[in-house]
Amino acid sequence: MKKHLLLGQTLAFDGNPMDDWQGAVRHDSAGGVLVADGVIVAVAGGAALRADHPDAAVLDYGDGLITAGFVDAHMHYPQTPIVASWGKQLIDWLNTYTFPQEMRLADAGYARQVADTTLDLALAHGTTTLCSFCTIHPGSVDAWFEGAAARGMAVVGGKTCMDRNAPDGLRDTAQSAYDDSKALLDRWHGQSRATYAITPRFSPTSTPEQLTALGALWAERPDALMQTHLSEQLPEIDWVRGLFPQARDYLDTYEAYGLLGARGLYGHAIHLAPREIDRLAEVGAAVVHCPTSNTFIGSGLFDMAGLAARGLRIGLATDTGGGSNFSMLRTMAAAYEIGQLRGTALHPAQLLWLATEGSARALHMGGRIGHLGAGAAADITVLDLASTPAIAQRVARAADIWDAVFPTIMMGDDRAIRDTWVAGRRVVR
Ligand code: GUN
Ligand code: ZN
Repeated sequence: MKKHLLLGQTLAFDGNPMDDWQGAVRHDSAGGVLVADGVIVAVAGGAALRADHPDAAVLDYGDGLITAGFVDAHMHYPQTPIVASWGKQLIDWLNTYTFPQEMRLADAGYARQVADTTLDLALAHGTTTLCSFCTIHPGSVDAWFEGAAARGMAVVGGKTCMDRNAPDGLRDTAQSAYDDSKALLDRWHGQSRATYAITPRFSPTSTPEQLTALGALWAERPDALMQTHLSEQLPEIDWVRGLFPQARDYLDTYEAYGLLGARGLYGHAIHLAPREIDRLAEVGAAVVHCPTSNTFIGSGLFDMAGLAARGLRIGLATDTGGGSNFSMLRTMAAAYEIGQLRGTALHPAQLLWLATEGSARALHMGGRIGHLGAGAAADITVLDLASTPAIAQRVARAADIWDAVFPTIMMGDDRAIRDTWVAGRRVVR
């Protein structure tokens, strides 16, 4: 396969910058990324790579910033058509907007159309991997993985399981959730770049029988991921308490049924009790921060500093369509704003790490995606750090790379995405 050499500023990580960002980050103002066979072969000085690989096709991005492609660790592709729907908090929002929309994905052709739209929007926003909830319909899972395979993208997905507290037409049963999830897992997990996540939506919409069945499936297939929601909003937590009176806390409604583990992804995780944090840390589970959703739906302020200090793996995500935006730049900005409201200013290096390597580690794909380094997939995003007049006038007086990149994090959108590469193929621009 043809070799490509991307020249520009490069930003890569050697370690986790949540502890010490300066020791973890490598910035090269005249760097290069050599790509062949869909994989990153080397990240080094641009001139040296050019001299050593005269046969490579060169793309010179000048001052463009070459980073790993963004990884959106929690979203709902079926909700793309209802993003930014007005005026509701979580439970009313689900009943008013979300469930009627998800019902429409009973039509597999429509599901594929929504999957295609979502994947193309993601690529235009520099996002190369997404971890999505599908709907209860198995065809919605096929649509998601087929759309991703057509684009060469590594994605995660799973059939959303619900056997109570959802409208007619949007409920399965404990048995059918097990059977359908198992068949989809067998069909897709490990096929091309697909990863299957067993997906109970959240404990209010699953009976103990369904949670038990899905826990059993995860025990049979521990190589699969498991994704769900946890402690997003206070009325939701009260509801869970009423539905599971014997549970010690919200996390216990998963733990008691075999749905707590290192390959578990717990979206939101805002209002956690100390026992829940201890257990998540002990088992090595991942929590996923969805900041635009948490402000948009009115959920609360995620404790990034506290949870990172406990060593929890933390992903960053749009949570489309509860989240209000497809852009991981806007998502980083919202994470910064929530951090400020809690008294911690996240550094741009930490925000970019969360949107790439942090999310990849949450998905157990660290080093393989979201990583600008040899051996990782060549899923790459190139940022224009002066994409609008407002950003350009600010960057003109930037003192260093962080001062130059932070305005794009705070004010950037898809106009800041100069190029997106998937598995060594240039797919945007
Ligand atoms: N909790 C259960 N389902 C959902 C959903 O679709 N979006 C969000 N934000 N929270 C949920
Ligand atoms: Zn969600």
